[in-house]
Amino acid sequence: MSEAELGELAKMLRSVNFFAPLTVGQLEMVVPYIMLLGAAQGEVVFKQGAAGDAFYIISQGKVGINVKNGLFSFSKQVATLGPGDFFGEMALLSNAPRSATVECLEPCRLFTLLATDFQYIIKENKDLAETMDRIAAQRKLLSSNR
Ligand code: CMP
Repeated sequence: MSEAELGELAKMLRSVNFFAPLTVGQLEMVVPYIMLLGAAQGEVVFKQGAAGDAFYIISQGKVGINVKNGLFSFSKQVATLGPGDFFGEMALLSNAPRSATVECLEPCRLFTLLATDFQYIIKENKDLAETMDRIAAQRKLLSSNR
């Protein structure tokens, strides 16, 4: 990452709820592992059913969360997420396949953390783990009711 991108990352991290409870020491440990990914409009970040290997935070752009409930049903957009929002936590928290297909509705800049680094943060921070579990449970419920 360039200096400018690191600056963007630091600014972004402070505004993202996910990182807010981390101590400076914990942040310093994870920052080197955060990667910046550019994705074009229409690009699929990952597909429903795939194995989960990373966690994503949106720096810029908008994504659509698309869920297909049955083999022969159409995929439905259950949510859209924008800057500061995160996705990809559910598969990592429950060791399950991706629950939705995530598609960029605009050109996106995404911060990503590999599963092992995400697990490290969660393990080190109980409050964060609980918040993540709660959000994942809410999202699961929302998706199954659509
Ligand atoms: P995961 O199952 O790893 O991959 C798909 C992601 O879409 C999921 O994690 C959540 O981050 C996100 N997601 C699923 N359902 C919803 C929802 N109802 N609202 C917002 N995000 C969701």
